[in-house]
Amino acid sequence: MGGRQTVCRWTLLLFSFVHVALQYEPTTVELPRFFSIDYENDQFLLNGSPFRYVSGSLHYFRVPRAYWRDRLRKLRAAGLNAVSTYVEWSQHEPSPGRFEFSGELDLQYFIRLAQEEDLLVLLRPGPYICAERDMGGLPPWLLTVKPDIYLRTNDTTYMEYVERYLNYVLTSVQVYLYGNGGPIIMVQIENEYGSYQACDSSYMTQLRDIVKSKVGDAAVLYSTDGAGLSFLRCGKIEGVYATVDFGADTNVDTAFLAQRIYEPHGPLVNSEFYTGWLTHWGEPFQSVGTETIVNTLDEILARNASVNFFMFHGGTNFGFLAGANFGDNYQPQLTSYDYDAPITEAGDPTSKYFAIREVIGRYLPLLNNTAPIPAPKGSYNTIILNPIASLLDQSIRQALGKEPLRSKFPLTFEDLGQHYGFVLYETTLARSVPDPALFNIPGLGDRAVVLLDDVPKGILSRSEKITSMPLSLSEGTKIQVLVENQGRINYGSLINDFKGLLSNATLGGDVLEDWIITGFPLHEISSLGVNSTYNYTFSCPAFFRGTFELPESYSEPLDTFLDPRGWGKGVAFINGFNIGRYWPILGPQVTLYVPGCHLKPYPALNELVLLELEKANSPHYTVSFVPEPILDERPPAYAAASHTSHFLVPPQLNQGPQTSVTILAV
Ligand SMILES: *[C@@H]1O[C@H](CO)[C@@H](O)[C@H](O)[C@H]1NC(C)=O
Ligand SMILES: *[C@@H]1O[C@H](CO)[C@@H](O)[C@H](O)[C@H]1NC(C)=O
Ligand SMILES: *[C@@H]1O[C@H](CO)[C@@H](O)[C@H](O)[C@H]1NC(C)=O
Ligand SMILES: *[C@@H]1O[C@H](CO)[C@@H](O)[C@H](O)[C@H]1NC(C)=O
Ligand SMILES: *[C@@H]1O[C@H](CO)[C@@H](O)[C@H](O)[C@H]1NC(C)=O
Ligand SMILES: *[C@@H]1O[C@H](CO)[C@@H](O)[C@H](O)[C@H]1NC(C)=O
Repeated sequence: MGGRQTVCRWTLLLFSFVHVALQYEPTTVELPRFFSIDYENDQFLLNGSPFRYVSGSLHYFRVPRAYWRDRLRKLRAAGLNAVSTYVEWSQHEPSPGRFEFSGELDLQYFIRLAQEEDLLVLLRPGPYICAERDMGGLPPWLLTVKPDIYLRTNDTTYMEYVERYLNYVLTSVQVYLYGNGGPIIMVQIENEYGSYQACDSSYMTQLRDIVKSKVGDAAVLYSTDGAGLSFLRCGKIEGVYATVDFGADTNVDTAFLAQRIYEPHGPLVNSEFYTGWLTHWGEPFQSVGTETIVNTLDEILARNASVNFFMFHGGTNFGFLAGANFGDNYQPQLTSYDYDAPITEAGDPTSKYFAIREVIGRYLPLLNNTAPIPAPKGSYNTIILNPIASLLDQSIRQALGKEPLRSKFPLTFEDLGQHYGFVLYETTLARSVPDPALFNIPGLGDRAVVLLDDVPKGILSRSEKITSMPLSLSEGTKIQVLVENQGRINYGSLINDFKGLLSNATLGGDVLEDWIITGFPLHEISSLGVNSTYNYTFSCPAFFRGTFELPESYSEPLDTFLDPRGWGKGVAFINGFNIGRYWPILGPQVTLYVPGCHLKPYPALNELVLLELEKANSPHYTVSFVPEPILDERPPAYAAASHTSHFLVPPQLNQGPQTSVTILAV
């Protein structure tokens, strides 16, 4: 397919490809701009001509802004004519009424770049997006304004905030709708709503009306659901075009038949054609073979369908924003969102990329440009880190902790108004107890290092369903529980996923009282003074720092990968930027992607800071920067990793073998 209009646009592009940094002029259009559905001929119309999109998902919030153009250009060079992105409410409205749309969150700039790179845009503004992100992209503060809020329904409190957010986003992108001169041809309502148990049609129609009031006829409204009648039943709403999503192992005819039951006429659309899959910590890296993808893609395109690859470029869950699933247990997702997609996490085309490009070329004109090649990566060798101090140290509390709160019973992260990072709960035992006594936290979100008088004793873990442990302690012992939010559930009925101590903690069956609670949001760590006094008598959890220069021979910093093998579990910051969680003893992700844009060229000093929770790479505290990612390793420790935890031994005791603490499952 591909109408005359479209081909014409491509031809023009050949001549303008070298100076694509065109000024954005949304009003300079010669032809009537109109994107619509032709129900008679089962197709889309772009300015009146038959059209289909071959689109790729790329979430701007998972890619450094400095690389947006490069990645978009690589989508276009694969033959794609559109890009699809979610909009993540939680980042754009970090607290009620405070909107952020600049810098790394500059959605308008991303849309302008897409247009400059000759891509149309499919916008998926939520409010819920799933996307394997914390709470499916919903802001965790919704749990604060109304703890029993019924998310994704017509709950009036929820809808009040949804309406304000949607109005804000849609107003800010209005000029970029296709009919208004921009590239946005499609706007999605909610996300796979038919998979959610609420099945609240009044919610979906309210969303439709809010979106319609801003979009009008300037773009097509659509919904996306699993390719089954049970999903479409609650996902389809009047006046919104229903599409389906399915992967390479699905029978294409059966899948589109499901769409046809709800949309007897109109274009066939697979809104999420899976090029790979998400991976949880502790499971093998999920991948999908290229051959099945290209065969199924060929079948989809042969039916004149439109398609969106999910993902075409996955990127990275920088910071604390990876989500989690809940199957039989709680399963947090990796920092990497490589997804086994055609373009790797680091932005390089793969053999899958070229195989897909070849199939697309049978149906749509390919640009006559040189295909992209993988970018060189930096091998910045090994650096030695210095211990700074325990997270429990006064200097760290002062630098990075919030003002401690006293509370008779534990408070959640949400009670504290702190949505990510860590919270430290401390209480001093005011009575004597049997030895040992069982320490129990039935409601734990999600993982806790338990210490007595600053000495680590073990780990409790929601994933492992280990929420109690025996402790040997006496009157006057300080009990400390450092809790990590490992990511809120992003899918299903458990998305009201509170963090911290969600229940009382008991010791020998008695409720512990009188807590001192200190939050460590770690939004940024600049107050971690460069000159903090080193204190070599501490143990993990602790901060480590090292500085390094890039080689003089690199004129500009190349991307690289942090290899933290030898360390346990923690968070890494490069020049203050949180590149995410590492957990090499569990895997399968071992290395963390370090975008070159966050590194400083020679001779400037770069800084790496680790917050290591469990096991420092003693005695030398080294990490290295390597040119290849390792995302699919199942380390030997895998089988035992979830039950055994190692702790940093103070350096002066380090001559002997490393001690380990075994956690007893109860
Ligand atoms: C909210 O949804 C419920 C369930 O669909 C419905 O019974 C109720 O009428 C709706 N309320 C409003 C105000 O739309
Ligand atoms: C696809 O579209 C072309 C051009 O309109 C048409 O000739 C062909 O029959 C269509 N194929 C299918 C499978 O609908
Ligand atoms: C692509 O461009 C090159 C260089 O301008 C030219 O030599 C080649 O023939 C072109 N190929 C096609 C298929 O148009
Ligand atoms: C904690 O224990 C107190 C006293 O038994 C009780 O009132 C309170 O509801 C408990 N809190 C939770 C979250 O269970
Ligand atoms: C750290 O200490 C050095 C030497 O005492 C001093 O020159 C420097 O300004 C200090 N830096 C900071 C950030 O305090
Ligand atoms: C070093 O850490 C230990 C254990 O936390 C503490 O007792 C001691 O006071 C610290 N020393 C300094 C100089 O901060």
